[in-house]
Amino acid sequence: MLTIALPKGRLADQTLDLMEKAGYDVSAARDKSRKLILEDKDAGLRFILSKPSDVPTYVEYGAADIGVVGKDTLLEEGRQLYEVLDLGLGKCRMCVAGPAELKDKLDEIPNKRVGTKYPNITRNYFEGVRNESVEIIKLNGSVELAPLTGLAEVIVDIVESGRTLYENGLDVLETVADISARLVVNRVSMKMKEEEIKPMIARLKVALAEEHSGEIH
Ligand code: PRP
Repeated sequence: MLTIALPKGRLADQTLDLMEKAGYDVSAARDKSRKLILEDKDAGLRFILSKPSDVPTYVEYGAADIGVVGKDTLLEEGRQLYEVLDLGLGKCRMCVAGPAELKDKLDEIPNKRVGTKYPNITRNYFEGVRNESVEIIKLNGSVELAPLTGLAEVIVDIVESGRTLYENGLDVLETVADISARLVVNRVSMKMKEEEIKPMIARLKVALAEEHSGEIH
């Protein structure tokens, strides 16, 4: 039996679609009730539906063998897990953003304040990549408000369509990382349940390759 932690919401459905393409019977997990654990003994699969940011916790502690989690969460939290596959779902970018007039002028602002939900990613980027120390202001959402209110000069946040930035007169200043959902595996499970996990990774890879070969370029 494999326990798979899925992030509640659209990403869970997209992951199930992919598993179905890979030949798994995931009908048990399509249950639209409020049940949080969905099990199919015959298929040998148990799905747990958790808050997206909690998926790595369930997998790291072995409460789940496998999980689906955004690269943003993995970069921010630096968990003890194996990241085995880029599922190509939920694609977006982690960016430094701010008023459009700051484009190409980031270096000109000394002692910047940076608003973000991702303090570790922000610190690693500014200190590690830009070799600059900044004041990080931790926020919990609607981060775009920070430069609009003077709380911070810039933000580090997820940009998907770019619409939130655009509608608030902000723009991408630099890209920090490309983000997408990743398949992660508990370190012990990888050894103890190798005969179930390895074929699953291989089948998902084939399903992903088939999807891509059908794309129009
Ligand atoms: C995310 C992110 C941006 C927005 C980007 O916020 O923090 O605000 O989506 O998407 P876009 O580029 O397509 O406009 P989320 O909806 O998760 O809410 P939050 O602001 O409360 O974090």
